[in-house]
Amino acid sequence: MTTTRRDFLSTTAATTLAAASAGLAEAGAKAERDHRSDTAKGLSISTRLTERFGVQHPIISAPMAFISGGALAAAVTRAGGLGFVGGGFAGTVGGEPDLDAELTLAKSGRFGVGFITWALARAPKTLGQALGHSPSYVFLSFGDPRPFAAEIREAGAALICQVQFLSQIDMALEAGATAIVVQGTEAGGHGGTRSTLPFVPEAADYLMQHSRDTLLVAAGGIADGRGLAAALMLGADAVVVGTRFWASAEALTPKPHTDKAIGMNGDSTIRTRTLDALRGVPWPREYSMRFLKNKLAEEWVDRDAEAFRAFGSLSAQYAEARKHNDLDTVAVICGEGVGLLKERPSAESIVKSMVAQASSVLHVGGTLKFSGSS
Ligand SMILES: Cc1cc2nc3c(=O)[nH]c(=O)nc-3n(C[C@H](O)[C@H](O)[C@H](O)COP(=O)(O)O)c2cc1C
Repeated sequence: MTTTRRDFLSTTAATTLAAASAGLAEAGAKAERDHRSDTAKGLSISTRLTERFGVQHPIISAPMAFISGGALAAAVTRAGGLGFVGGGFAGTVGGEPDLDAELTLAKSGRFGVGFITWALARAPKTLGQALGHSPSYVFLSFGDPRPFAAEIREAGAALICQVQFLSQIDMALEAGATAIVVQGTEAGGHGGTRSTLPFVPEAADYLMQHSRDTLLVAAGGIADGRGLAAALMLGADAVVVGTRFWASAEALTPKPHTDKAIGMNGDSTIRTRTLDALRGVPWPREYSMRFLKNKLAEEWVDRDAEAFRAFGSLSAQYAEARKHNDLDTVAVICGEGVGLLKERPSAESIVKSMVAQASSVLHVGGTLKFSGSS
């Protein structure tokens, strides 16, 4: 069964909403119960993005540094989403997985590769290395994508730009981005200060006015089908999912990290710049990192200025702690969606259950009762 975005809109765009929230909560629970049987029916959700990208579901796995290897990217694509390999810091910090090896693993289907743009600018040849594997998409975030746009286009790949602020959209449009990912502050890893709920519709309005054909993708805090459904209702053509795939069977995430995270609630994360300063990673000042609160983070809370004065002073200690998975020091990097993780299932099961649950709650939206006139 295929449910189009237009169907969703026509069933939900209506008059004044009355007495609906209790019914929706109940319906959400029912959707959760039903999702396994729905999965078996081979549901898909069609949007502008699925049609243009030729994928079954509007679900993109985030190109997470250190985490999104080729096995995860391939599994997401096999499940009908679009998988990305995390090219991360383009080899400019130690310990990243071998990019050629991960891209080779991803090649069984359509895939993309992502880079942290300011880091790629320090090692620009890494882009050519990645393009040599013929990714269909290159995902750039955290910096100016324009210097890389021509090389990406000439290699036949499409550019996807993730932005953290509305003011960054023009730069992405100038770079010729096919899709713009707006990332809310709920996201795991690095990000900005905007919240997904108002950021996505504001970006949708902006694109409607300035570049109608550019696709809009939502990211940040989307970890189940309810998040997917909400993002589509806000005007997104698809979602980028990080934290939920971070805790998937195929991710490169160390087991002690997901063991610690699963069962925690969304209150347990913190977003701060101090850790990057202390370990000497030169992130531009507008970006901070969200991860699970730990001893080190608690010690340095509200001490930004001091941490920047001590730039890099903890880098050796941090590297040592990483070797031993000392999670009092090492950050377990995930977003507020951590409160929705119950286990570490396969990527396929994540994609399928998100689609089934989104479809259920969106259909339930069509049964809401309205009163008054529009
Ligand atoms: C562990 C982790 C690493 C990440 N690394 C990157 C990265 O290297 N490049 C990037 O553009 N985004 C990165 N992100 C952010 C994602 O692109 C995405 O915006 C985010 O995961 C979406 O929010 P969510 O985590 O709530 O799903 C990372 C996220 C996580 C959780």
